[in-house]
Amino acid sequence: MRLPSEIIRDKRDGKELSAEDIRSFVEGLTSGQVTDYQATAFLMAVYFQRMSFSETAALTQAMLASGERYDFAKLEGVFVDKHSTGGIGDKVSLILAPLAAACGLKVPMMSGRGLGHSGGTLDKLDAIPGYRHDLSRERFEQILAEVGCSIIGQSARMAPADKKLYALRDVTATVECIPLICGSILSKKLAEGAQGLLLDVKTGSGAFMPTPARARELARWLVKVATKLGLPARAVVTDMSQPLGYSVGNALEVIESVEILKGERLLCPEGKPPGTPLERCSADLKELTIALCAHMLEIGKKVKNLAEGRRLAHARLADGSAWKRFQEMVRAHGGDASALDRVERMGLAPRTVSWNAKKKGFLAKMDAREIGLLLVELGGGRKRAEDRVDPGVGFVFHRKLGSRVIVGDPLVTVYAPASLDLAPLEARFHAAIKYAASRPSLPKLILDAAAK
Ligand code: URA
Repeated sequence: MRLPSEIIRDKRDGKELSAEDIRSFVEGLTSGQVTDYQATAFLMAVYFQRMSFSETAALTQAMLASGERYDFAKLEGVFVDKHSTGGIGDKVSLILAPLAAACGLKVPMMSGRGLGHSGGTLDKLDAIPGYRHDLSRERFEQILAEVGCSIIGQSARMAPADKKLYALRDVTATVECIPLICGSILSKKLAEGAQGLLLDVKTGSGAFMPTPARARELARWLVKVATKLGLPARAVVTDMSQPLGYSVGNALEVIESVEILKGERLLCPEGKPPGTPLERCSADLKELTIALCAHMLEIGKKVKNLAEGRRLAHARLADGSAWKRFQEMVRAHGGDASALDRVERMGLAPRTVSWNAKKKGFLAKMDAREIGLLLVELGGGRKRAEDRVDPGVGFVFHRKLGSRVIVGDPLVTVYAPASLDLAPLEARFHAAIKYAASRPSLPKLILDAAAK
C-alpha cells in the first residue's frame, strides 16, 4: 500500500486515484491503519476536488468489500428496495414497504437513523413499542419469506467503512458531496442484497441537494454507479421544500403512516373526530407513496407499466392488505401491533402548543431544513450520535404551502417536553415561513419521473 498521506496528497492536488489506491485506503480505514484525521483530510480533498465516475465506482466497490454482503438469489421472489436521500417528515418507507409486499414484491429494507436535520426510519420504528430492528440474517430472511417485507438496521458487519466515513462526514461538513453520497448509499444497498433499487432523490429546502440541478446530477450518478456495479436502479427526483404529509416527529409519523395504511384518521389536527376519511394534508404523502410503489413494481417486472403499477398499489391500499402486512411485519419484529392505531399508546408528549400565523396571505415558502433542526431542539433528533431521541415530540402541520391564512390561524401544533422554553424555537419557526400576497407557484411533488 502507498502511504495514506501520498494518496491524500494526490487527491488534494486534483489527480485521479487508481482503483488500487482507493481500495487500499478504504481497507486501511476499516482495519485501523488509516487514522480518523487522515480519513478526514481525504474526505475534504474529495469534497473540493471531486472524483471521476471510475473513482466513485471504485470507492463504492471498496466500501462494499469492507463488510459482509447478503444474497437472496436462492430465495423465492423478486427483491426490490427503495432508498430516499433523506428529508423532513419522510415516512414513506413505513407505508411503501408493506404496500409493495402486498403487491407481490419482497422488500428487504435496511434503514438508518436520523442525520442532522433529516429523520431516519429506524428512529420512527423505535416509536412502536417493542419493535426490534437488530435481527439476525436468518430471521430477516424468514420474515421476508413469510411477510414479504422487513425493515431492519444496518448490521455493524455491513459496509463498516461507511459507518466510519459517515460519522466523520457528519461532523466535518463533507456530507453534501456527490461521490461520497454515492459510495455511502450504494455500498449499503449493494450489501443488502436487493435485486433492484429505486432511489428517491430529494430536492428543496429540506434536502441535502437543495437545487433541482444538483439533485438531478446526484440521481444520474447514483443510477450510473449502481448499474455499473450490477444493481439495476432507477431514480426519481422529488420535492422536499416542505415536510411530507402533516407530521414531523417519530411517533407522529408512525401515526400518520398508519392512517394512510388503514384509510382513516386517528389524530385530529383540525378538530375532526377520529375515524373521518383522510384529508388533503396527507395527500402528497399518499401520492408519492403510490408513485414510488408503481416504479418498484415496474423495476421488479410485476407490472407492464407505471399506470398498471399505480392501479395495483391503489387497490392493495384500499383493500387493507398493505395495512395487514404492516401489522404482520411489526409483530414479526417483536412489536406491539395493537398499539399502532391507539394514539394514546404511542407515547406522544403530553404538552401541546399552537403556533399561529403572524401575517395574512398565502404560505409561500418554508425552510424545511429549519423544521428538521427544530425537531432536534425538541429532542426528536440527535445533536450527537449518542443522544437519546424522544419519540413523542414533534409537529402537526395544519397548513401546507399554498394555503391562504389570516393572522391567528393555527399553522402547527407542537408536541413538546414539559420543561422546554419554546419561545426561541417559536421565533425560529416564524422566521422559517414566508408569506406572499398572491397564490404562489409551488414545485411539483415529482419533478422527474425516472433518471437514467
Ligand atoms: N444517506 C446516506 O446513507 N449517505 C449519505 O451520504 C447521504 C444520505
